[in-house]
Amino acid sequence: MDIEKMLSDLTLEEKAILMAGFGFWQSQNIERVGLPDIWVSDGPNGLRKQPVDENGDPVWGEGSIEAVTFPAACATTSSFDRGLMKKLGTTLGKECQAENIHVILGPAMNMKRSPLCGRNFEYMSEDPYLAGEMAVSYINGVQAEGVGTSVKHFAANDQEHERMYGSDIVDERTLREIYLPAFEKAVKESQPWTVMCSYNRINGTYSAENKWLLTDVLRKEWGFKGTVVSDWGAVSDRIKGIAAGMDWEMPGNKNVNVKQIMDAVQAYERQQAGEAVAEGTAVLDPADLDQAVRNILTLVDKAYAGQRDGDVFDRDADHKKSVEIARECIILLKNDDHVLPVKKSEKVALIGGFAATPRFQGGGSAHTRPHEVTAALDVCNEYGASVYAKGFSAEEDVFIEQDYKDAMAAAEQADKILVFAGLPDSFESEGYDRTHMRLPASQDMMIERLVETGKPVVVILHNGSPVEMPWRDKVAGIVEAYLGGEGVGRAVMDVLYGIVNPSGHLAETIPVRLEDTPAFLNFPGSEHKVYYGERIYIGYRYYDKKKMEVAFPFGHGLSYTTFAYSNLKVSTKETTAKDGLTVSVDITNTGEFFGKEVVQLYVGDRTGTPDRPVRELKGFEKVALMPGETKTVTFELGERAFQWYSMQQGGWFAANGEYVIAVGSSSRDLRLKERITLTGGREFLPEISADTQIGTILHNPVTREYVLTEMRQILENYIADGDLEQMSPMTEALLRYMPIRGFRNFGGVTNEEIAKHVENLKRVVEEYDRSH
Ligand code: BGC
Repeated sequence: MDIEKMLSDLTLEEKAILMAGFGFWQSQNIERVGLPDIWVSDGPNGLRKQPVDENGDPVWGEGSIEAVTFPAACATTSSFDRGLMKKLGTTLGKECQAENIHVILGPAMNMKRSPLCGRNFEYMSEDPYLAGEMAVSYINGVQAEGVGTSVKHFAANDQEHERMYGSDIVDERTLREIYLPAFEKAVKESQPWTVMCSYNRINGTYSAENKWLLTDVLRKEWGFKGTVVSDWGAVSDRIKGIAAGMDWEMPGNKNVNVKQIMDAVQAYERQQAGEAVAEGTAVLDPADLDQAVRNILTLVDKAYAGQRDGDVFDRDADHKKSVEIARECIILLKNDDHVLPVKKSEKVALIGGFAATPRFQGGGSAHTRPHEVTAALDVCNEYGASVYAKGFSAEEDVFIEQDYKDAMAAAEQADKILVFAGLPDSFESEGYDRTHMRLPASQDMMIERLVETGKPVVVILHNGSPVEMPWRDKVAGIVEAYLGGEGVGRAVMDVLYGIVNPSGHLAETIPVRLEDTPAFLNFPGSEHKVYYGERIYIGYRYYDKKKMEVAFPFGHGLSYTTFAYSNLKVSTKETTAKDGLTVSVDITNTGEFFGKEVVQLYVGDRTGTPDRPVRELKGFEKVALMPGETKTVTFELGERAFQWYSMQQGGWFAANGEYVIAVGSSSRDLRLKERITLTGGREFLPEISADTQIGTILHNPVTREYVLTEMRQILENYIADGDLEQMSPMTEALLRYMPIRGFRNFGGVTNEEIAKHVENLKRVVEEYDRSH
């Protein structure tokens, strides 16, 4: 398509029409100029293609087409396997081709700020590096099939409570280090065709109207070349949105904004011609409208260039893939005395409604119609001898005496007890948040009673977000299956019986209790605001900083085999942030089973910079090893691995000094460490005014020399009990926090002299800034 020609052929009205979709899932077509429409669909972990009526609106009674439900992102991210994520993307891309879908609405990649967020099942991690890496693989998989993606929800849509109205009060450093980097990586490394802006406001401005977010950061800084689409119904003021860079409103709105857009452009033109426009009139620069149209045309063009004929949605084949993927995601959290794998000769009791009706997907826009759901109970006979009792419901929290008795009776007959537990659908969903972190009481009670039998109990969890596990020290094993897609029952049985060696690791911390969580005091907010008071300390960044006990740490995951770490090497012990370094480590399978280890690399700032996390994930690899086999895993660390975002410096910054590079099997199982030093980087520039404290200019290498020479006399006059090199701790502290202007009161220095030093110090800093 000749986009510029098409743009110039369109009338103002047609451009305004294009600003929103047609119905729920299509863009507008403009027959007069031969512009076709495109189709989008949820996403992210299966197709939710809905049949529509003549207005493009869903025929609600019909639901969505039969598809294949893959594990949700809470599970797939736990694989720590980029290849697997790509395979999921490829599969979905092919399904989209077969179903004539041009863009799949995913991946969803908001940060798991609180385990209570109702949509955490759909999100990837509490760690932006991990989420970004996995998103890139997913996007590359889909887009290589000629189908677009929509990274969502941009940005900081981290709760469901008041998601369409509430405002996140969050500082820029926190956004830059925690809530934006996964999107940044996705944009820079895989150019998603679309970015879906979130419902919420950030510091008072709706994402759909946020020029800083959608234009300055997304396009100008990160180089986004695609189209911004609104979340469904996220638009408040359409004119402001177009000016801010929000291209495409969804769903369609029966052209209600067309006149308003045209009027606003005409008002702009009148204004340019020197006419007065009434105060409060909406004004829109036609160049902004054209840019939004251009972005939509570009999307349509890509969609048709990528479209192929002849793909078939092979549901049976994709069901198998769903099982294969689920197997790689399941996490063995606990395995005392090798209670797992279960031996074929052992008799097991399967207890819990989730054995018969597993919860395998979350509710809301990600909800798909599965092709074939496999429950553990459907296939358990293939694995070994078992008895089943419901024990408790998978749908609600009720206590039924008979179910309870049946469960105890089944347990009596078994060598091992496998409890299929989890969160019922109603406990977590898009649209609302959880109010507590517990399993239904009927389940907790059942588990406690089963433990009392003295037989080994293994709990298998089907949930989208962590639960408190008051029985965690008492049970022998815990398996986190998350929401493992339609084949979860098969995948779980494969893991329980050792047909597959578990290799999932936690992409989020499992805290001991809700009250321990970083956002506990600031979730879900009040008076339509939510303060991100924990700032950059979410997930393990918080628990590690506070040295808190957690139930299971970020990155944790056991295997039926064991892995040894050796030979940690860094390419250099001294480097600049820009040059970075290469790190390698040998991993050996020291056990008896084939297995996969998730090797994690964390960087810790030990430069003395205040307010930094203890460690942050900066690399990971999943490595498959036969018994006795060793492989070398290599990581490249670039400057971002060391940087933090300084609001004072207005950008990314890495201090010179020491950093710890640690590798291990979880954030709290670090096996090997090395220390390296960064040198040659720019110093942190102090802000200079009469209010600047002496400690700042005395300790900053840029200004120190000036202070020691030009201001020495003033300082020494102030020090009663020694000199600059030898002060009492109290004098040292008093001096450190003394503003330069303080010498007026404590030293008789004149205003003129203070002003002179301030000017000189400013020059020193400017000079350094210019030359570095
Ligand atoms: C959700 C999006 C989804 C869209 C379309 C919204 O409510 O937040 O994630 O893609 O609906 O279904």
